[in-house]
Amino acid sequence: MSNRLSPALASKLATPLQIGSVVLESRVLQSPLSGVTDLVFRRLVRRYAPKSMIYTEMVSAKEIHHLQTLPQLMEIAPGEEPISIQLFDCRPDFMAEAAQKAVAEGALTIDINMGCPVNKITKKGGGSSLLRQPEVAEAIVKTVVDAVEVPVTVKTRLGWDDDQITILDFARRMEASGASMLTLHARTRAQGYQGTARWEWIAKVKKVLSIPVIANGDIFSVEAAIACLSQTGADGVMCSRGTLGYPFLVGEIDHFLRTGQVLPPPSIKARLQCGKEHLQGLWEYKGQRGIIQSRKHMAWYCKGFPGAAELRDKLSRIESLEQGYQLIDRAIFNY
Ligand SMILES: Cc1cc2nc3c(=O)[nH]c(=O)nc-3n(C[C@H](O)[C@H](O)[C@H](O)COP(=O)(O)O)c2cc1C
Repeated sequence: MSNRLSPALASKLATPLQIGSVVLESRVLQSPLSGVTDLVFRRLVRRYAPKSMIYTEMVSAKEIHHLQTLPQLMEIAPGEEPISIQLFDCRPDFMAEAAQKAVAEGALTIDINMGCPVNKITKKGGGSSLLRQPEVAEAIVKTVVDAVEVPVTVKTRLGWDDDQITILDFARRMEASGASMLTLHARTRAQGYQGTARWEWIAKVKKVLSIPVIANGDIFSVEAAIACLSQTGADGVMCSRGTLGYPFLVGEIDHFLRTGQVLPPPSIKARLQCGKEHLQGLWEYKGQRGIIQSRKHMAWYCKGFPGAAELRDKLSRIESLEQGYQLIDRAIFNY
């Protein structure tokens, strides 16, 4: 992969990204990741990507409607801007109510999940099943747009399966309903996370929309971001699995778009140190539940260095903060 952008594209990508009334200084976004993009993870991403839009985990509008208190997933810490809250459900009235609460919490935009492939969500009409009910998706966008002052955005996929790649029509409908930006994960629902993302569809969608189109799927490195932006003409990129155990990625791509320079990768020590901070943050924010949740994160940090597999195995079984600290400190000492 080349690590160059054409001069014309480089200068476009160095300009701010306008999402309705919101102006973003960065065209690299951190995706919503359920079970991952909590306040603790976002703080790490933010350190390296001060201007990027970061998304919360998806939040159920139904839960917001029924609960007396807001779910912890919606909590935003001071200084987290620019941040967006992602919502899911299929009932326009629940979504509008949840969107108003999200704005009150500090969401700069409201993102609507129309891409989640998980059965539990699609069976109830949410996530990617909205691709098969475009009228409902339109009603959701229209109702939420009417309910809040902030821009409303949509994150979706190519279609339900290879026989139903409906994105061109769907994307037009979302724009016509008032969406201010579309993020496209270039896989079908049937693909899940398998196979490669089909970026050629992002290029096709970009041609039929006036609102910004953000490319998502397989952005695992600066080189991948460059290739995707060059091939699609997208207005920005959103990083997802590439940030698991690697909260540096959004900042690295942003740095490249800003300066044309590729940052040297963080050392193993720096990655482990970051993992340790992540662990500490989860303990402080969530207590013992945070330790359990930290296991998967710690495993993701342990990749690509001698002894990583053994460390991963041990960290994915930790019961306490001290146990995690001991293992990570020992590994840091050895590098
Ligand atoms: C663990 C995990 C959790 C995810 N949670 C969400 C979510 O809450 N909302 C959403 O829109 N997409 C979610 N996604 C999808 C990603 O945001 C992204 O669209 C997808 O992973 C494709 O990008 P990638 O190939 O770079 O990973 C999730 C993906 C993963 C792997």
